Amino acid sequence: MTIQLSDIESRSGPKYLAITEALSDSIRRGQIKPGERLPTHRDLADTLGVTVATITRAYKEAISRGLITGEVGRGSFVSGIPEERNNLLENFPCPGRDMEEPVDLGPVLAAQGGQDRILSETLKSIADSPNLVRSILNYIPQPGMLEPHQQAGGQWLSQWVPEIDPDRILVTNGAQHALGLSLLSAAGSGEVVLTENMAWYGTKAVASSFSVRVESVDMDEEGLDPEALDQACALHGPRMLFCSTNRQNPTTATMSLARREAIVDIARRYDLTIVEDGVFDFFEESPLPALATLAPERTIYISSFSKCIGAGLRTGFMYIPEELFPRVAGHNRAMLICTPPLMLDIASIWIMDGTAGRMVEWQRAEFAERRKLAREAFDGIAEIRSNASWAWVELPEPWTPGQFIAKASAKGINVWPSERFIIGRTAAPPAVRVSLGGYGTREDMAHNLQILADCMSSPPGSHIG
Ligand SMILES: Cc1ncc(COP(=O)(O)O)c(C=O)c1O
Repeated sequence: MTIQLSDIESRSGPKYLAITEALSDSIRRGQIKPGERLPTHRDLADTLGVTVATITRAYKEAISRGLITGEVGRGSFVSGIPEERNNLLENFPCPGRDMEEPVDLGPVLAAQGGQDRILSETLKSIADSPNLVRSILNYIPQPGMLEPHQQAGGQWLSQWVPEIDPDRILVTNGAQHALGLSLLSAAGSGEVVLTENMAWYGTKAVASSFSVRVESVDMDEEGLDPEALDQACALHGPRMLFCSTNRQNPTTATMSLARREAIVDIARRYDLTIVEDGVFDFFEESPLPALATLAPERTIYISSFSKCIGAGLRTGFMYIPEELFPRVAGHNRAMLICTPPLMLDIASIWIMDGTAGRMVEWQRAEFAERRKLAREAFDGIAEIRSNASWAWVELPEPWTPGQFIAKASAKGINVWPSERFIIGRTAAPPAVRVSLGGYGTREDMAHNLQILADCMSSPPGSHIG
């Protein structure tokens, strides 16, 4: 028999799809060969204990996937096409997971906790909804969101900016795209944007693409130093301030309420547009007021799925002051027309059905454990700062970042030097950033952290460790 009851029992979703999938697996495994005749609808229905209509639907689905052909009066036959198609899909490279060496602890990524399995389920249910499939093939009307998307965006953003006006939400292809739109809309070519003196390097890349000058502002343990900000405003006459309030990347600095208020006062005095990067705000269980709440008239708030769910979804939401919204939406339309509906659908479904919330909770708990591992690994070897999805590791004497990176790389692990985060002319401190996320399991992470700690505990140039 081609398919047994046990082949479909463990599969979730509609019965007919489970049968089609089981059939597909049997063909792929060579249990049923191209040209072979399949059981009649009635016979297979009896074997599997389902209705004939279910088998008819399953066979129809298999025909539409090119797995089988149906010939009236003769029956259904396995076709040869799926072998090639499956080979193509199965051999598709998967960045990160396929690369065994070196292990890349450079980019800060979400940890993998079964998002791929959930995505696979969601894609199947989308595929099973003709309306959604059809809308994926079309443009989304302006401003690039349908009502359910807008509702989902509002629900997502209101975790950090409670009073959301849905008409001021724009969906983006992630935070970097949102920053680009902000620069285009509120800071022209040749103008100045201020940001922290150590920050996510993407800021420099985006600003340079738009010929915007980036100047740095000194920080303390709460992030931007108000006095330094005031001076930088007086000196450079900036149009915009780009900053994070929570768990700043890479320093981990978080602003108190008083610090947020001080920053907002200065922004008002110098008439700055603030762009608040909230990509790590998902770690906040009881967030302090966002700058977008304290100064809604001038703050663009940026959020993204990249760090809490998956960077490849390239989906985020931005919340824009009323006055700026038409410009930002106009630039977005000019560049993209609209973001890909499939990604927005996935994000919206996950927000509305609670999946995104559960994923965020999982990430918080998982990274809390991984931070513990980092503290244990570097205990007595190096000082670390870690309150999000990376560890900022201060190298012990006499290591320099360059030496350490070379040693770690020789052991098969990539980490990023402090220099990569420097904005302006600040001297790079002797530190490296180690990402705690990515494809590996928690056990892989423990192993890799131990390798890094062992490297660090023997002096540069030594052959021990
Ligand atoms: C602070 C910060 N903001 C924004 C981004 C970019 O996020 P996205 O993938 O959503 O463009 C990153 C990525 O590393 C980041 O660290």
